[in-house]
Amino acid sequence: MICSKAQITAVGAYVPEKRLTNEDLERMVDTNNEWIIKRTGIKERRIADEQEFTSDICVKAVENLIKKYDKSVHDVDMIIVCTMTPDFKTPSVAALVQAKLGIPHTGAIDLNAACAGFTYGLHVANGLITSGLNKKILVIGAETMSKITDFNDRTTCILFGDGGGAVLVEYSEQKSGFLSSHLGSKGELGKNLYCTNLSDRINGESLTGLGNIVQNGREVYKWAVNTVPKGMLSVLEKTDISLQEIDWFIPHSANLRIIESICERSEFPIEKTLKSLVEYGNTSAATIPLALDKGLTEGKVKQGDKILLYGFGGGLSHAGLLLEWTV
Ligand code: COA
Repeated sequence: MICSKAQITAVGAYVPEKRLTNEDLERMVDTNNEWIIKRTGIKERRIADEQEFTSDICVKAVENLIKKYDKSVHDVDMIIVCTMTPDFKTPSVAALVQAKLGIPHTGAIDLNAACAGFTYGLHVANGLITSGLNKKILVIGAETMSKITDFNDRTTCILFGDGGGAVLVEYSEQKSGFLSSHLGSKGELGKNLYCTNLSDRINGESLTGLGNIVQNGREVYKWAVNTVPKGMLSVLEKTDISLQEIDWFIPHSANLRIIESICERSEFPIEKTLKSLVEYGNTSAATIPLALDKGLTEGKVKQGDKILLYGFGGGLSHAGLLLEWTV
């Protein structure tokens, strides 16, 4: 069990207004509602306006957090934005968020671990607070995946959507909620899920689909269902808590079949998972905070609950985290 001094004290979320349903996609590419539901479980996604970017989504998610928890973010001393779809290469999304929210004295960094971003961000925030370097950190997982999606590619455009979730992580002597974590990366498999930027070669191999997300869905699927169940056990091994004692499992909402397979392999009841994919699709770094926010709004997550979060995706990277809910 890690000796943490950090606690999540507030959660907020935001998704754009515009919906993209499976029926809409039927009119755009050669696909159909039944195929998408059967293979992914996704019914619709939200799509940002042309002039709405990841920093705008972050700000709305934080405003939602402030409203719901009556919190101030004026004294935040670090902003970590977890995203693979930043507005710019520089300035960082975090710096834009600092300016838009008018936070006077804060560090600001972006963290890119794709769909594992949010759990990586929480791990880093816990480390910074527990070490005494920071006192109050905003961790935001937000994406505008629609801006890097090729809407002619039926193998990817059915999956991704836009949205964001934010949490406040604060110093707490008595009420630490971070119990354990486990991180990993397999860059050797990076070519199975990528979006090109300045280079169109990876590990010596040339790539296609410049500027858009490209994936080998089957390979990602295989890697995820093999890696995550083992990773979940690695998170728990560092504690005296068993999988049976977990109240809620929040896996990255990549697709329902991956979640079903992870639960089956781990012998974990799927009814105890929280997901955001049916209504929002795969929002990469945003799926876990969106699912957490939904679980809280629906009154499912309660004080004292043990929650296992597990992010996985591009990198290929993964990160799991065990929390005790203390709010
Ligand atoms: N609509 C209809 N048919 C489609 C389709 C679509 N949107 N996309 C692919 N197909 C077709 C394929 O062309 C193929 O046809 P063929 O048999 O005639 O060649 C058939 O459906 C099966 O394709 P396949 O790629 O083997 O399907 P799959 O069962 O692997 O499902 C994914 C595809 C993408 C849903 C699945 O691989 C997946 O979910 N992978 C993980 C992706 C993911 O989560 N990525 C993000 C991780 S963070």
